Amino acid sequence: MKLSIIAAIGKNNELGKNNELIWHLKEDMKFFKETTMGHKIIMGRKTFESLPEILPGRKHLVLTRSELEFPKEVEVYHDLKDFLETYKDSDEEIFDIGGEMLYRELLDYADKLYLTEIEAEDKEADAYFPKFNKEEFDKSIIGEHYDEKKNIEYKHVLYKRRSYGKR
Ligand SMILES: NC(=O)c1ccc[n+]([C@@H]2O[C@H](COP(=O)([O-])OP(=O)(O)OC[C@H]3O[C@@H](n4cnc5c(N)ncnc54)[C@H](OP(=O)(O)O)[C@@H]3O)[C@@H](O)[C@H]2O)c1
Repeated sequence: MKLSIIAAIGKNNELGKNNELIWHLKEDMKFFKETTMGHKIIMGRKTFESLPEILPGRKHLVLTRSELEFPKEVEVYHDLKDFLETYKDSDEEIFDIGGEMLYRELLDYADKLYLTEIEAEDKEADAYFPKFNKEEFDKSIIGEHYDEKKNIEYKHVLYKRRSYGKR
């Protein structure tokens, strides 16, 4: 498996508030859709519950310790090890789409981080992207945007791991 992380973060690594996204940036939603389309996406139960609907064209993998019922098209894992074991010999790119807990747990396994770095902050955020050692990655800016309505600048940045992680 080639694990990629995709996240939109504020100046202080803000990810979310009250189980919702903080900034809704149109071009960023498009970037998320185009980057993840056709791939498997893994997420924590809370992020799954925050989605407005099942995202078309992407197989959803959800981690939970609960026995909740999920729609039948969702692949459910109760243990992170089972997920890693299932895909260890696969070549496919799988996207970790969050939230905080899933980013923290899978950062060491990720080869690529697609981060939307937003020039804004929110002191009321309650979910944060983990700090990581940028020296372990090659950084390239793949897009720069300005949302006129919200007066917010943001960049799409790709961090590629120089040497592979724990695998
Ligand atoms: N800005 C962004 O790009 C972005 C992306 C995604 C999410 N978010 C935000 O992030 C916030 C949610 O993050 P979060 O950390 O609270 O939740 P989360 O990571 O989405 O989900 C956490 C849940 O996942 C399950 N889980 C996690 N690790 C597990 C493991 N090893 N084994 C079994 N189950 C496991 C548990 O579910 P159970 O409790 O069911 O056991 C846990 O409570 C929201 O505000 C959301 O909007 C932001």
